[in-house]
Amino acid sequence: MGRNIFTGWRNMESRLNYGNWIRKKLLVILGLCTIGVFALLFIPLGIVYRIFMLCVFLITAVSFFFPLYSYLMFSQKGGRFQEKVYQLIIQSLGESVRGRILDIGTGNGVLAVMLAEQHPEIEVIGIDYWGKDWEYSKSMCEKNAQIGEVENRVRFQKGDAAMLEFNDGTFDAAVSNLTFHEVRSVEDKREVVREALRVLKPGGKFAFVDYFYDDKRYGKPTDFNEFLHGLRLSHFETKTLYELIALPVIMRHPKIFGKVGIIHGRK
Ligand SMILES: C[S@@+](CC[C@H](N)C(=O)[O-])C[C@H]1O[C@@H](n2cnc3c(N)ncnc32)[C@H](O)[C@@H]1O
Repeated sequence: MGRNIFTGWRNMESRLNYGNWIRKKLLVILGLCTIGVFALLFIPLGIVYRIFMLCVFLITAVSFFFPLYSYLMFSQKGGRFQEKVYQLIIQSLGESVRGRILDIGTGNGVLAVMLAEQHPEIEVIGIDYWGKDWEYSKSMCEKNAQIGEVENRVRFQKGDAAMLEFNDGTFDAAVSNLTFHEVRSVEDKREVVREALRVLKPGGKFAFVDYFYDDKRYGKPTDFNEFLHGLRLSHFETKTLYELIALPVIMRHPKIFGKVGIIHGRK
């Protein structure tokens, strides 16, 4: 009997180690602070102290529950929003994806693995700097590629999204998810987009997700649009994430997905 593709896909999905866009270390620190401040509330130091500590507790509790909620929504055991965003990126590239694909800021390599799984003819290269402030690693990427049984077509290497170590026009397609805004060495994040497009062949496809609707990072949407037009791409589209994925109200908060969008098209 042939392999049930859907079941196989779901099984692989649940076995891949996604990591989480919210760092566990951050949750632990915020959780401990919340418990600590809660305990301090019970010190009998008078009403002013109690009111002050109550305010501090409320602020700490919100600062903890907000990322905790996001963590659960991103997780494969919760809202599966990481997977939904990866699927959106893959769908945005369209059906006919061929050749060599670059995933910039690959994290745990899940998007790269899913791409290779869905397009059996392609080769994917995932680059990342795997800094210590993130809970991702090259070894986890390689493990995920093995779980997905695509290790012969997916490879990972250390690299900087600000200065990609590839010649102009190397790749047939490029993807990136929530990485450009993290590139600290470049103030103007539009330059990271330009760099990603540099390594793409003319006519190559791309799909990038980032905080493209955050003025502080990319300028006003009209200016950013003008910038993209200036790149003389054959075709591009920009959309907010909430136009494309059904998001719970809290997930639309600017600190979560409210300012996140996708740009996709052809160079
Ligand atoms: C929010 S995570 C997203 C990871 C992955 N794209 C995903 O969807 O899970 C941001 C990633 O950007 C990477 N990163 C940050 N600055 C980078 C740089 N200058 N060059 C390459 N990767 C970078 C981090 O190591 C991290 O893996």
